[in-house]
Amino acid sequence: MEVAAAFRWQAEACARLGSPMYGELLHRVADAVAEGDPVVRAVLAGHEQDPGPSALALRLAGSVHRVVLRGRAPALAHHYPSTGGRWELAAAWPAWREVLRQHQAEITELLRQPPQTNEVGRAAALMGGLLHVVAATGRPVRLLEIGASAGLNLRADRFRYDHADPAGAGWGPPDSPVRLPGAWAGSPPPDVDVDVVERTGVDIAPLDPTTEEGRLTLQSYVWPDQAERLARLRGALAVARDVPAPVHRRDALSAVRALALREGTVTVLWHSVMWQYLSAEERAGVETEIAALGDRASAAAPFAHLRLEPLQRTPGEDREFLVLLRQWPEGEQRVLGRAVPHGVPVRWE
Ligand SMILES: C[S@@+](CC[C@H](N)C(=O)[O-])C[C@H]1O[C@@H](n2cnc3c(N)ncnc32)[C@H](O)[C@@H]1O
Repeated sequence: MEVAAAFRWQAEACARLGSPMYGELLHRVADAVAEGDPVVRAVLAGHEQDPGPSALALRLAGSVHRVVLRGRAPALAHHYPSTGGRWELAAAWPAWREVLRQHQAEITELLRQPPQTNEVGRAAALMGGLLHVVAATGRPVRLLEIGASAGLNLRADRFRYDHADPAGAGWGPPDSPVRLPGAWAGSPPPDVDVDVVERTGVDIAPLDPTTEEGRLTLQSYVWPDQAERLARLRGALAVARDVPAPVHRRDALSAVRALALREGTVTVLWHSVMWQYLSAEERAGVETEIAALGDRASAAAPFAHLRLEPLQRTPGEDREFLVLLRQWPEGEQRVLGRAVPHGVPVRWE
């Protein structure tokens, strides 16, 4: 797809997925590309053949957002909702273009990175599933997350989930910096106490949420007019300061292969929206290792596989963001509920 068309496609997707700001902005960038704007063309030079899935438009928008969040573009910050500004395309465009001109070298460098996000809303699905695991086993929890990004959701037990109906019900510390109003609907997960004794993540491109760089990267790829997503993320970054959860640079298969069960605890392998990035061999390898862990599990050392992934319930059906749980030593796989791409709300079945 040629560059202007790719930006228009992304603009439509952003508008549909809740960012009117990027809907307008990316159309404006597409116009600039089509008009041969020298500033825009200079920044995008060399990317004319980038494949669609590499999301050039989101990389560019995220790079400019990063400059804004770092406080290096005060005139543009005035127009970005993520820095307290008010978006209006006609007023913002000259400042946006000026940031491309002034920060061309930095933005060219940033464009090499793939967008990297960690969706805190998905904790609503994972945590609800974990409550089922704890209700069934009564054991302290060891968590391993594959494709964990910054590992924010490894602190899911420190977030607050409010049930939409009945209103007022929910789970988690009411004073948590992460509050997910209307996170759950349908049949509520069991209301049990959870003791997480180990939290470990792996990712091929991990981010460290305890560093300024890591925090900036995570925020820069959130669309600036999505106030709820940003608030959740910023809350989770605050929790991450107090609750350690290392994320190691490691691929999913080797991490699951190295996983051992421990008596007196339940070992939980969980993941969200990462399965599609694995090769067919890696997926098959992870499934084999999970089956082997299941065979080794016992009442004293149980094991659970919990996931939120876009999957089909049966072949031929549309994909849904399903919350799936399988527990060993016994237990069939169950669909616990379904969510939306960014997690909330989750409807429990
Ligand atoms: C869309 S992100 C989701 C991150 C996080 N699970 C969430 O829901 O916010 C997918 C993540 O999978 C990671 N990833 C991709 N391939 C991987 C692999 N083979 N092993 C481990 N992590 C992988 C990426 O680096 C990225 O952090």
